[in-house]
Amino acid sequence: MDPRTGMPRVGMVGGGQLARMTHQSAIALGQSLRVLSIGADESAALVTPDVEIGSHLDLDALTRFAEGCDVVTFDHEHVPTEHIRSLVAAGHAVHPGADALQYAQDKALMRHRLAASGLPVPPHRVLEPDSDLVAAAIDFGATHGWPVVVKTARGGYDGRGVWVLDDVPAVEAVAAELNGHLLLESFVVMKRELAAVVARSPFGQAAAWPVVETVQTDGICVEVIAPAPGLDPDVAAKASELALRIAGELGVVGVLAVELFETEVSADAPDGLLINELAMRPHNSGHWSMDGAVTSQFEQHLRAVLDYPLGRTDALAPFTVMGNVLGGPDSGPGSEVGMDERVHHLAARFPQVKIHLYGKAFRPGRKLGHVNVLGSDLPELRRIATLSASWLGTGIWDDGYEIHTGAAVPEPVDRSGTASASDQRMPDPTTRVS
Ligand SMILES: Nc1ncnc2c1ncn2[C@@H]1O[C@H](COP(=O)(O)OP(=O)(O)OP(=O)(O)O)[C@@H](O)[C@H]1O
Ligand SMILES: [Mg+2]
Repeated sequence: MDPRTGMPRVGMVGGGQLARMTHQSAIALGQSLRVLSIGADESAALVTPDVEIGSHLDLDALTRFAEGCDVVTFDHEHVPTEHIRSLVAAGHAVHPGADALQYAQDKALMRHRLAASGLPVPPHRVLEPDSDLVAAAIDFGATHGWPVVVKTARGGYDGRGVWVLDDVPAVEAVAAELNGHLLLESFVVMKRELAAVVARSPFGQAAAWPVVETVQTDGICVEVIAPAPGLDPDVAAKASELALRIAGELGVVGVLAVELFETEVSADAPDGLLINELAMRPHNSGHWSMDGAVTSQFEQHLRAVLDYPLGRTDALAPFTVMGNVLGGPDSGPGSEVGMDERVHHLAARFPQVKIHLYGKAFRPGRKLGHVNVLGSDLPELRRIATLSASWLGTGIWDDGYEIHTGAAVPEPVDRSGTASASDQRMPDPTTRVS
C-alpha cells in the first residue's frame, strides 16, 4: 500500500519500455509503479520517481525491492526462479509465479511441457549439454528434413539465439560457437505468424484480445496488424482457446502472449496452428492495444496481478497497425536529423499517428519505440505505420517525401510560387532547433 494515496503498490522488476508503459497505466489507476532498474537511464527509470537501482539477479536487492510492494511482477523473464521462490517464501506476492514463468524462460522446458499437454508444437529435439550438434542435426534433418532450426533454450530475444541452417556445412560453420542448452526444431513452412494475447487473474478470470498478425524481419518484429486480416474465424477462436488453455494450465497470472505459426492443417497442426513461444508479461504483439483496444495490455497486466476484474479487450477500430521504431545506422543520410525533429515532422505529416517512444539511447537495430495508427483502410494504415516507424528510426522518409516542401522527391517540385499549404503548416525546423 502506498501510504500517500492508499492505493496498492505494484513493483516491476526491470526498467525497460514495458515497465515505462505499465507506469503510464498505473498512473491512470491512481498508482505509481515501483521499478527495480539496473540503471538510472533505463526507459522506466527516466519517468518513474519510485525507482530502486539494483540487479534482478541479486536476491538481496529483490528482497529490499519487494518490501512495501503489494505485488511484484516483471518487465522481462530473466529473474532466476529460485529467487522468485525465495520472495514467495518470505511472504511476498509474485505474479506470474516461478512455476509458470519457467516456461517463458526456457524454450526446451516449454516445448516439452506443451507437447505433454497435447498442444501443437513444431517437431523438436532437446539436446543434452555438450552433445555433438552436427551429428544431432544430421540425424534430426534425416527424419524431419532441412533446414534445421537450432535455438538456445534460454536468453534469446529478437531472433538472437535462433539459427536456420540449410545443410550440414551450415551447421558445421556455427557449431563451434554454439554451446550450452540447445534444441533442434523443424523449419516451419508457414502462411504467416500470429500472436494470441490474453490475461488471467488469480481469481481465474481471463480475457483475450483479438488475434493479431506479426511481421518479422531478420527475427525482429517490425509490424503488428490487429486483428490478423482475413483470419478464418474458427482458426482465430482456436488460437484464443489455445492461449487461454495455456494460461489456465500453467497458472499464468498477468498477460500471456502466445506466438503462433499459421500453417496448413497437418497431423502436427490439426487446427493449422503451431505454438512458437510464450511470454508472460506485456509483449510487443500487444502494443497496438494502447490505442486500439478498450483496455491496453499494460492496464490489463496491472489489473490481473492485483486481482482486479479485467477490462474489456474489444478493438476500437476495424484495424490497428503497429510499427516498431528500430534505430537506423548511426551515420550517413538521415542520421543528422535528431529525434525531436523527427517527431516534429511526423506529427506534421501524419497527425493521426500515435507515437510511443521509450527514451532509449540510439543504437542501430534497437527498438526505440513504436507507432500505432487506427482505421479501416488497411493498405493505407500499413503504409503510414511503416513510413512513420522508419522515419523515426532513420530520419529518412522511405517514399522520398521532402520535409520542407511536403512533396515527394521523384515528382517535380515547384519552388518558385507562393508558400504551399504544407510550408505554412510546418515551420522550417532549422529556425527552431539550435
Ligand atoms: N521453427 C521455426 N521455423 C521457422 N521459423 C522460425 C522457427 N522458429 C523461429 N522462427 C523465426 O524466428 C523468429 C524468432 O524466433 P523466436 O521467437 O523463437 O526467437 P526469440 O529471439 O526468442 O524471439 P522474441 O524476440 O520473440 O523473444 C520467429 O518469430 C520466426 O520468424
Ligand atoms: Mg519470438
